Amino acid sequence: MSRKINIAIDGPAGAGKSTVAKILAKKMGLMYIDTGSMYRAVTWKALKLNCGFDDAEELARLSAVTSIELVPDEENYRILVDGIDVTSEIRKPEVSQHVSLVARIPEVRENMRRQQQTMAAPGGVVMDGRDIGTKVLPNAEVKFFLTASIEERARRRQEELKERGYNISLEKLKNEISKRDYMDKNRQTDPLVQAEDAILIDTTGLTVQQVVDKMVAYINKSVK
Ligand code: DC
Repeated sequence: MSRKINIAIDGPAGAGKSTVAKILAKKMGLMYIDTGSMYRAVTWKALKLNCGFDDAEELARLSAVTSIELVPDEENYRILVDGIDVTSEIRKPEVSQHVSLVARIPEVRENMRRQQQTMAAPGGVVMDGRDIGTKVLPNAEVKFFLTASIEERARRRQEELKERGYNISLEKLKNEISKRDYMDKNRQTDPLVQAEDAILIDTTGLTVQQVVDKMVAYINKSVK
């Protein structure tokens, strides 16, 4: 059997990465890995232990000793931190507000990257994040970079949170997303940038299906 391809999907928060990545993975028989969930997992543990978010050394140590497991289930997978299921906990606003502070630390990134590269080594993953095409899987067969306007991204986040029972104003979400964008794009280690060989897709005004169709068309054209 020939080796399955790896697909890298990067872009800012709310550009639609996880929604389309999940569908694309299913369609192509690949495994979807959301690398943001791993940074969220470390952040969840830091909050639980009351770590100072300016204590880079402690956060780095924490990321090295924390076990993060992705356990496949019928939906996609559950995420376990030291054996505890934190799949819903890591989506809470408190985690979202602190995760960029954790993701900017070079040693944390190194620890996450090593695990992500191990998962992708046999091939067959659709991995989404911020540095997948540039750092984690620079040799991925296909790379996409998704964007959308800030208004649309805030609207999508609002819907998503509403489904989970949180009512947050558009203004507040726009502010939060802009702040996170700024930190992700301007951090010194592995900032969010489009890989030179990534295909840019602006998802503003496109349906999920339209984005997936564009991706599949590109994959069919470019992967022989
Ligand atoms: O995709 P998300 O919103 O769940 O990501 C959470 C945070 O993790 C986000 O602020 C950026 C960071 N992140 C990262 O730095 N590198 C990745 N590969 C994935 C996420």
